[in-house]
Amino acid sequence: MTRDFISKVNNEVKDTQLPDIYGFSEQIGKVPDLIKLTLGEPDFPTPQHVKDAAIAAINDNDSHYTATWGRIETRKAAADFLKNKYDLNYDPATQLVVTNGVTEAMYTTVKAFIGEGDEVIIPTPAFPVYDSLFTLNGGEIVEVSTQPDNFLLTPERLEEAIKNHPNAKMIVLNFPSNPTGRTYSEAQIKALAAVLAKTDLIVVSDEIYSELTYGTTHTSIAKYLPEQTILFNGLSKSHAMTGWRIGIFAGPANLVEQIAKVHELVTTSVMTISQFAAEEAFANGQDDAKPMVVEYEKRRNYLHEELNKLGFENELPEGAFYIFAKIPAHLNQNSYDFCLEVAREAKVGMIPGGSFGKGGEGYVRLSYATSMENIKEAVSRLKKYVK
Ligand SMILES: Cc1ncc(COP(=O)(O)O)c(C=O)c1O
Repeated sequence: MTRDFISKVNNEVKDTQLPDIYGFSEQIGKVPDLIKLTLGEPDFPTPQHVKDAAIAAINDNDSHYTATWGRIETRKAAADFLKNKYDLNYDPATQLVVTNGVTEAMYTTVKAFIGEGDEVIIPTPAFPVYDSLFTLNGGEIVEVSTQPDNFLLTPERLEEAIKNHPNAKMIVLNFPSNPTGRTYSEAQIKALAAVLAKTDLIVVSDEIYSELTYGTTHTSIAKYLPEQTILFNGLSKSHAMTGWRIGIFAGPANLVEQIAKVHELVTTSVMTISQFAAEEAFANGQDDAKPMVVEYEKRRNYLHEELNKLGFENELPEGAFYIFAKIPAHLNQNSYDFCLEVAREAKVGMIPGGSFGKGGEGYVRLSYATSMENIKEAVSRLKKYVK
């Protein structure tokens, strides 16, 4: 008999469910001829000048460890980017760390703040990795469904959640949002900030889609709550650099110093070649997202309209590259079963809204980070299916 050591694994790890979006995509990926509107990454190549910077770094033998927080030049370029774009003031020497994508920033931050029984407020539907990370660290999730408010957190609902959970330690915001594509205007951010300023909640703000907005400009909540915000951003979405693994976290120096301990223990430092590429992207690629945004906007407009015509009600999203649409009333309202059925029968891949928390049930997420040709074919298949 083979011996089994599974009982030695920490219970927190055993109890942690990985987000099912990846498993679900893989599962339906086996359907032949499937059009995938499931993808969470840009379908554009990384800008050439960024690739050239990486090639130069390789040829210059820049293949050593860097400072654990990242090369100071990369951090400075990132801080300048945040200043120019969003009027944020971070000292690159003490307030900003380069991470292995926002994913690592999320892990290190959660590890630094959250222990057994700590409550975290999450407006849902939300990016499901947060849920898994909090479970891994023993945190208790307080879900606030934004479904009744067109998927935007209102100051009233926020106040109510705070009142019901006075000991909550953290709130996680993500805008533009994965999965809804919705985002907040400056006035809405100010109103949320006014509520949060009266609390001592740590505000984790994942603004990774900040460069992908349509007809609106991004306002960071860190502008109004610099003392209590840990800001996440990165290059995966803005510069089509998912595989380069570049993110950052920034915040008050004393908090950043603590989070950076975890970062150092987990990674030592981020891959050096990627850091050179990131410096170039932040410093000289400030407009790199613009041509992508023009394309995304065309796709968004088309998909938004066509889905509404088909009975998949959806609000026009202001950012990211997702549309969150309501499953028509005459079809299966269980989002998981529905997406499985559509993948098998219509050969269109979508992500069940329920994968993003309670606030997402009854909906589906469609990504338009794929060609217009694919999107048009998917719409035509859905048309047949709905009939
Ligand atoms: C909201 C959100 N945060 C973080 C990430 C992860 O980004 P990164 O590639 O920088 O790890 C994603 C990726 O899909 C995302 O949608």
